[in-house]
Amino acid sequence: MKVLVSGGTGFIGSHTMVELLNAGHEVVCVDDYSNSTPLVLGEVEKITGKKVIAYKENLCDKAKTLAIFQKEKVDAVIHFAGLKAVGESVHKPIMYYDVNINSVISVVEAMSKTGVKNLVFSSSATVYGTPESMPINENFPTGGTTNPYGTTKLFIEKILMDYCHVNKDFNLALLRYFNPIGAHESGLIGEVPNGIPNNLVPYIAQVAVGQRDKLSVFGDDYNTHDGTGVRDYIHVVDLAKGHLLALKKLEANCGLVVYNLGTGIGYSVLDVIHAYEKACGFSIPYEICKRREGDIGECYADPKKALEELGWKAEFGIESMCESSYKFQEMHPNGFEKK
Ligand code: UD1
Repeated sequence: MKVLVSGGTGFIGSHTMVELLNAGHEVVCVDDYSNSTPLVLGEVEKITGKKVIAYKENLCDKAKTLAIFQKEKVDAVIHFAGLKAVGESVHKPIMYYDVNINSVISVVEAMSKTGVKNLVFSSSATVYGTPESMPINENFPTGGTTNPYGTTKLFIEKILMDYCHVNKDFNLALLRYFNPIGAHESGLIGEVPNGIPNNLVPYIAQVAVGQRDKLSVFGDDYNTHDGTGVRDYIHVVDLAKGHLLALKKLEANCGLVVYNLGTGIGYSVLDVIHAYEKACGFSIPYEICKRREGDIGECYADPKKALEELGWKAEFGIESMCESSYKFQEMHPNGFEKK
């Protein structure tokens, strides 16, 4: 299959390109490198021994997006491209709605004009807002998002569902990710946050290599086993594999499908710190601080539906998530640009 991967040089996109190429698919990467670098393409090619067809393009440009679709004649699209910093989205909501929503509209219009009928969309567990109970399954109500980033995911899901509703031959997989962490085992690709990391594991990784003094643990008074926040961390390679199985499902003309991609296991902040300490061999300094606004106490998936319908199950445990994260961080203390 020939697959267009938007945002292919980002964290999840790059790992998905590797899995696609390893499985024998052709990959067309479209990225404007606004939060990544084309150097990632070389690393993906190094890992797989295969070439990626790459375009530097902003997908909000409808004419240029259409031209790529007309030229490449792809069979399917995996749409990762988008802005993803929760804090920034609160301060720049219009930019988030503009970029995230308009790029999807541009892609879907180009798909419609060129007859491409299979789309995987990179959604998030954030669309469930503050769920009433755990674990979260796909029938839980969506809404109640707490920041514009999350609301763009919610709106895009709705836009795509409406499109599907009137285009009966269109196949759409909405994949709701829990907390992707880790890196490829080679250490050649991984997550490079922009500025001070907001997310837990990228922050711990920078503490581990001495770039930050200590981690702030946001609250130890949640109703969880040790009082710190519990999340469903999932290895990015497992997540990437989920996309390939979703593509297979689309090929069978499934229409609209929605899957949670998580492990079903919740780890607290302290659990993750301890797993990371085991991976790197020394202790991670931290201090307990007050809760972060907008956080919930716990969030983990019921991943049964993905197992039953896709045959997908996360295989890597928290140990390999932390080991691979540390390996990547050691190899790229300053990101991809300066080694
Ligand atoms: C966040 C976003 C979510 C997004 C996801 C991407 C919010 C409210 N949610 O999820 O929309 O899809 O990232 O992976 O921002 N923590 C610390 N210290 C830190 C950082 C985090 O204690 O320096 C704690 C948090 O309080 C939380 C856990 O670690 O309990 C995980 O936090 P994080 O990695 O930011 O992910 P989420 O908040 O779950």
